[in-house]
Amino acid sequence: MFDGDTLVRLDVRQKVAEDLESARQRSLDLLDPLDEDALRRQHSPLMSPLVWDLGHVGNFEELWLLREVAGAPAVDPSLDDMYDAFRHPRPNRPALPLLRPDEARRYIAGVRDHVLDTLDRVELDGGRPLLAGGFVYAMVVQHEHQHDETMLATLQLMGDPGYRPLAPAPPAGRPVTGEVTVPAGPFTMGTDDGARAYDNERPAHPVDLPAYRIDAAPVTNGQYAEFVAAGGYQEPRWWTDDGWAWRQKADLEAPGFWRAEGGGTWSRLRFGWREDVPPDEPVQHVCWYEADAYARWAGKRLPTEAEWEKAASWSPEGVKRRWPWGEDGVEERANLGGSLYRPAPVGAYPAGVSAYGCHQMVGDVWEWTSSDFEPYPGFVTFPYREYSEVFFGSGYKVLRGGSWAASPLAVRTTFRNWDYPIRRQIFAGFRCARDV
Ligand SMILES: [Fe+2]
Repeated sequence: MFDGDTLVRLDVRQKVAEDLESARQRSLDLLDPLDEDALRRQHSPLMSPLVWDLGHVGNFEELWLLREVAGAPAVDPSLDDMYDAFRHPRPNRPALPLLRPDEARRYIAGVRDHVLDTLDRVELDGGRPLLAGGFVYAMVVQHEHQHDETMLATLQLMGDPGYRPLAPAPPAGRPVTGEVTVPAGPFTMGTDDGARAYDNERPAHPVDLPAYRIDAAPVTNGQYAEFVAAGGYQEPRWWTDDGWAWRQKADLEAPGFWRAEGGGTWSRLRFGWREDVPPDEPVQHVCWYEADAYARWAGKRLPTEAEWEKAASWSPEGVKRRWPWGEDGVEERANLGGSLYRPAPVGAYPAGVSAYGCHQMVGDVWEWTSSDFEPYPGFVTFPYREYSEVFFGSGYKVLRGGSWAASPLAVRTTFRNWDYPIRRQIFAGFRCARDV
């Protein structure tokens, strides 16, 4: 016989074990088709060798779930230095004496076995914030899924013959055009969820916004191609000074992986497949400067992250939602989890619409916002400075919503991502907004 509390505790442990297992299966499945050379090579100076990511997720798990939570000794202290992302920036990682793929697999499997052994004995409700509601486990699961998305970005950058995954066709889209109006008024930004959310999403706080309009769907490839065809990349007036300087320096002419095929048509390279650019799919692989220039050309602007979050998570009745559609599961409502290997066309998830009528706020593409990455009022670092705090005020722009490659366990309407305005190897697009 179990009392109610015991059952809840068992449920949390079971969920932790399942989530750890599914994140690991995803990582191993992603890398399974690759040979030793493809795992050890650096495919782009922007990214780590894939085998570094693999060892790093296991080392992060060891640091938090074995050493910090269970007080276990280090498996091998030299691994801590090698897999420390701050000590060794990405360009330097190929020169490290990395574990070979078979060694890395063995190391992370050993850590995992030990974690599962200790799980039953850990006191989840003993008053330690790190463990409350299983937070540290959710953090480790999210971390692995975030690296899976990073590894997908690496696989997209990999040269010939490319990764070439087989994936089901995305659900059919339908036309979604125009904007929705979000009326003036306060909403609750961020969350107090201590079991799942990162420190930068906390605390929940009121934000009062004037009325604004925001696009009902992300900007599509077809819409973006009009900007290109209209000479948008040749017109400095659509670009900020920094954006124009970068456009010239990096010789940007179109979104990443696009190639002009003559007659105004475009192809793109996607994981090694050369294919026509689908016009009704949200544009991806554009940097913040390109998104910002498009918005100005369209007579609009990028939304602030507060505008994005209100349109995604608030209801006119004043209820905050975890997902745009409410609290129910993600199935059929958003393109998350990576199985499609691409964004779905706009209008593909009518059941996932937000209370204000915005489609695909979560999934498909990360959406650039106009906001810099800054702490919320009352921010408290938890559990370590290097997750958020060291990045505040350093020229990063906030992205929201999560891409097709993001896991439902690693994204929500309050989730904040950030990157430099020049970056476009990530699966990022945008939607526009404007004042009423
Ligand atoms: Fe990491």
